[in-house]
Amino acid sequence: MAHHDDLIATDILGYLEAQENKSFLRFITCGSVDDGKSTLIGRLLYDSKLIYEDQLASIEKDSKKSGTQGDKIDLALLVDGLAAEREQGITIDVAYRFFSTDKRKFIVADTPGHVQYTRNMATGASTADVAVLLIDARYGVQEQTRRHAYIVSLLGVKHVVVAINKMDINGFDQGIYNAIEVDFRDFAKDLNFDDITCIPMSALDGDNVTTKSEKSEWYKGPALLEYLEDVDVEAAAKDAPFRLPVQWVNRPNLDFRGFSGTVASGKINVGDDVIVIPSGKRSKVKEIVTHGGNLKTAVEDMAVTLTLKTEIDISRGDLICRADSPAEQSDQFQAKVLWMSEQEMFPGRQYLLKTTNKTVPASVTNLKHGIDINDFSEVAFKTLSLNEIGAVTLSLSAPIAFDAYDDNRNTGSFILIDRQTNETVGVGMLDFALRRASNVVWQDMDVSKKARAAQKMQKPGLLWFTGLSGSGKSTIANLVEKRLLDLGRHTYTLDGDNVRHGLNRDLGFTKEDRVENIRRIGEVARLMVDAGLITMASFISPYRAERQMARDLLEDGEFIEIFVNTPLDVAESRDVKGLYAKARAGEIKNFTGIDSEYQEPKKAEITVNTVEMSAEEAAEMIVDYMKHNGWLEN
Ligand code: ADX
Repeated sequence: MAHHDDLIATDILGYLEAQENKSFLRFITCGSVDDGKSTLIGRLLYDSKLIYEDQLASIEKDSKKSGTQGDKIDLALLVDGLAAEREQGITIDVAYRFFSTDKRKFIVADTPGHVQYTRNMATGASTADVAVLLIDARYGVQEQTRRHAYIVSLLGVKHVVVAINKMDINGFDQGIYNAIEVDFRDFAKDLNFDDITCIPMSALDGDNVTTKSEKSEWYKGPALLEYLEDVDVEAAAKDAPFRLPVQWVNRPNLDFRGFSGTVASGKINVGDDVIVIPSGKRSKVKEIVTHGGNLKTAVEDMAVTLTLKTEIDISRGDLICRADSPAEQSDQFQAKVLWMSEQEMFPGRQYLLKTTNKTVPASVTNLKHGIDINDFSEVAFKTLSLNEIGAVTLSLSAPIAFDAYDDNRNTGSFILIDRQTNETVGVGMLDFALRRASNVVWQDMDVSKKARAAQKMQKPGLLWFTGLSGSGKSTIANLVEKRLLDLGRHTYTLDGDNVRHGLNRDLGFTKEDRVENIRRIGEVARLMVDAGLITMASFISPYRAERQMARDLLEDGEFIEIFVNTPLDVAESRDVKGLYAKARAGEIKNFTGIDSEYQEPKKAEITVNTVEMSAEEAAEMIVDYMKHNGWLEN
């Protein structure tokens, strides 16, 4: 276990070269402080003569100063979370520690154990080859052990070490150890691990951590560090199909055209046939160019530029695959999602879905069920809250190239981004593509929106009125419609109270129902605009995300958002329908402005201040806006 770290001081180049040639193992430790997790990590680092992170940082600084090392030390490896998440620029509290022995380099992701940190654990587990689950021998398999085991299996970790710790307290009693091992193996049999290794341990005393202990002569397996040094995690990587997400097309001059990116999985050789997804175009690899010179073969994690034998069209976001094992593509999926935001996930709401190489708008079409991570049972969920996991179906607005997460953790994972705040709100794993019912295709109609609009001699579009209940939306919409009729326009008004008697009579006022309410209205309004009508929609529509969705369904310039800005106290004092009084008395729940949120528009085309302006004046102002913006030209 001796570690030649004196090389760092005497021959930094030699040291770095030795480091470069060693294989790499990423692992995650799961357990709470009380299980002895920190002690265990401390032990490993101490006994293996670790390289501290700060030491490494100073090596990096020194190597930069001397100016000859280039990018030799890849510090990014130390903070390597979900690839897409990293690009998205969010940090989740996971401490990555680096250490090495003469056999291997290690990165350990140290994540807090408590349930509220599930998302941190997922981030750490997403790149781990091995998970070390700590169990306190006094308590055996706990609910938390199950939860951790489930999450690491969900995130695709195939090798598990069960560190049965604090064995010193029971004098290394084999009976206690055996009982825990049987218990763990029994519940983990459905979890899809390739192997499970149990080790009796005392992190405190160092028994079976870096070397075998005499106190457990009955134990025939390896010490933890021996296991970590020897476990074969490369075999699976070698078999993985080749995937290169194209990050940029490198064209410094007319003679060179290369496709650059980091190999997400598998390997490729000069001369291999490749296929590009989504275009399906084929070619052969001519060269594999890297900073350090040309290579014959490139493997996972390498940053390379490929040149091809023939000129084919490839752009950023495409996926280059080996021709004999192309990735699939689809726009409908079944997937698992771990929710990472305080804001709940609602089926029907649109998010941005980002994979290693593409970002597209997507929505959850169905939350099939949630997963109770304590006993893996399926539970009925309407929404997903922070740290909850759900099985969902997803609909994307454009197809993506992908692999099932089980086959490829890189091209099978995605994150969901909130379109308003740009925050990462979920991470997910693609299970498989769903085929659209093949008998449902877009029917191309001979009569187009343009033709219908021309017949009506008008520019169709959607006036979206949003504001609190009693703000005056419907009154103003009604006046605008009358004015437009007078001007010979063809119109229709969709109104919250009315639509809720028919199309949406199954919906109430919970968040998820309101999301669905507006989703349906957005779709109906789109059809009306398609019919050539100037359409008015008057709904509280309290969430920015759904108003944005309605906007996105239409073409640029077809959507006018009108914020009917009436302060709560004014709307409440008017209380036309007597609903505020009831809400205050607790007779109506989830009332907007009282115990349900209203998100004011940030960039409405028109804001109407109903305190300073009468409904007639507001209607006049809106019609004026339309006149000035080319809506009422003839
Ligand atoms: S939205 O939030 O989903 O957009 P919508 O505009 O369809 O609401 O319906 C709002 C109307 O429903 C209100 O004007 C009011 O008359 C009635 N209503 C009944 N209960 C509620 C409630 N809890 N919150 C808001 N409006 C309610």
